[in-house]
Amino acid sequence: MTDKLIIFDTTLRDGEQSPGASMTREEKLRIARQLERLRVDVIEAGFAASSNGDFEAVRSIANAIKDSTVCSLARANDRDIARAAEALQGAARGRIHTFIATSPLHMEKKLRMTPDQVFEQAKQAVRFARNLRDDIEFSPEDGYRSDMDFLCRVLEAVIAEGATTINVPDTVGYAIPELYGEFIRKLRERIPNSDKAIWSVHCHNDLGMAVANSLAGVRIGGARQVECTINGLGERAGNCSLEEVVMAVKTRKDYFGLEVGIDTQHIVAASRMVSQTTGFVVQPNKAVVGANAFAHASGIHQDGVLKARDTYEIMRAEDVGWTANKIVLGKLSGRNAFKQRLQELGIEMESEAEVNQAFTKFKELADRKSEIFDEDILALVSDESTVAGKEFYSFVSLSQKSETGERPEADIVFVAGDAEIKAHANGNGPVDASLKAIESHVNSGAEMVLYSVNAISGSTESQGEVTVRLQQSGRVVNGVGADPDIIVASAKAYLSALNKLKSPSDRVSPQV
Ligand code: KIV
Ligand code: ZN
Repeated sequence: MTDKLIIFDTTLRDGEQSPGASMTREEKLRIARQLERLRVDVIEAGFAASSNGDFEAVRSIANAIKDSTVCSLARANDRDIARAAEALQGAARGRIHTFIATSPLHMEKKLRMTPDQVFEQAKQAVRFARNLRDDIEFSPEDGYRSDMDFLCRVLEAVIAEGATTINVPDTVGYAIPELYGEFIRKLRERIPNSDKAIWSVHCHNDLGMAVANSLAGVRIGGARQVECTINGLGERAGNCSLEEVVMAVKTRKDYFGLEVGIDTQHIVAASRMVSQTTGFVVQPNKAVVGANAFAHASGIHQDGVLKARDTYEIMRAEDVGWTANKIVLGKLSGRNAFKQRLQELGIEMESEAEVNQAFTKFKELADRKSEIFDEDILALVSDESTVAGKEFYSFVSLSQKSETGERPEADIVFVAGDAEIKAHANGNGPVDASLKAIESHVNSGAEMVLYSVNAISGSTESQGEVTVRLQQSGRVVNGVGADPDIIVASAKAYLSALNKLKSPSDRVSPQV
C-alpha cells in the first residue's frame, strides 16, 4: 500500500455518458490537456470500441498526453480490448480498463449469463488484455450489489491473471459510506492475492453520497485510487466529484494522511471548461467550484473573515484557482497576445487558419465588450455555431422586436448546408420567436427539455451563455451558445444542438 492517492478522472468516459454531454474529439482533447495540467494520474479518455469517433478521441489523447496515464474502457471481450489497445498504441503510459457485471441482477437480467460464465469471461478478458498491455484495470460492474463470495472468487482470479488495479463500482449509487468502506476492507482481507493490486473506488451519486462513499472506501477500505469526474459530471445524479474528493483529502490531511498529486490551482479552470463544453451548468452552491463557494454573504461571516480568514474559511479560494476576474485581453490586443493566451489556456488550434478564425471572432467580441476574460475566450472557441462550413447549421444574423403589450417578432438569417435561410416568426418572448423562426424552416420536431442562461463573467456587461437541451427519438443533445446578446446566444445554442442531432450517433453504451 502506498501513501499516495491515485486520482483517476473519468469525465471523458463516464461523465460523457450523461445524456447530452457527448463531446467532439477536439473538445475531449482540450479537456484532456487541462486534466494533464491538473496532474491527474489517470485520464479515462473514452470507450474506444463504442464508436469510430470515440476511438479517434482516445487515440488523439493517447498521442498528445505525456504526463498522465491514458486509459480506455473495454467490455470483457477480445474485440473491445483489442480496439482499446489499438487506440492506446501511441500512449507514453496506457491502461486498458475492462469490466463485466457481477451482481446477480445484472448477470441474470442484463447479461443472461451464469456466474460461472461471467467468472470465465472475466479471467479470459484480463488474460487477453495483459498480453497487450502491462497496466490492466478490472471492474466488476455493480460490484457493490454482488455476492461477496462470488466477487472474491472473480477478483482473486483476475489478479492472478495480471490485473494491476481492481476497481469496485457502486454503479447505481446504493452504498452508504461505512458499509461501502467495510465492503472494500473485507474484499482486501479475504482475497489472498489482494496485495498484488491497487484497490480503487468508483461511486455514483444517486443518494448524494458518492464523495462520502469514495472517502470511506479510502479511509476504511484502504483503497488507493479514486475514480471521479470534474463537477461530478455523469449519468443520472453523476459521479464522485474530483474537486470535492481532492480538496477533502488535502484539507483533512491530518485525518487521511495521504498525498495527492493534483495541482489544485487549475481546478476552477477545469470546472469551467467542462461546464462550458457540455452545457452542464455548475450550481452556485456547489462545493469548491460553485460561484458562492467562497462568498461570505452574511455580515457576521464577512467581519470574521476580514479579521482572520480561517474563522470561516477552511480552504483558500486562490488555491483552487479562484482569482478576481482578470481582464486578460482587450480591443487593442494583437494576434500574438491572443495566440499566447490560447496556449496558456491549453487550447491548441489545429491550423493557423483556425487561429485566424478565432482571432476574428475575438476582435468582433472586443468591439462589443471592452473587457475580455478567460471565460470569454473559452466560450468563443467552444462556439462553432458561427463558423460557416464547419457545421451544417451556422448563425449569421438576427433582429427582433419586442415591446410591452405586443407579441415579439424575430427575423433570423442562418446557413443550412449551402443555403442561406431567412426566417421569421413571433413568439411569447424574443427568444421563443427566434427559435420558432429557426424551427419553422428546420422542422426538427425535437422537444426542448432544458433552456438555461448563465452570465459568463458575472455582470450585465458579460456574455450570456445559453444551454439548450433537445430530445429527438430518445436521443438527447446539448447545444451551447455565447454572445453579449442573450437572444443571439439562444439562437446559436439552438443551432448547435440541431447540428448535434444531425450528426450520426453510432455509439454503443458500455452498459448494454
Ligand atoms: O459505474 C460503473 O459500473 C462503471 C463501470 C463501467 C466501471 O462505470
Ligand atoms: Zn460508472
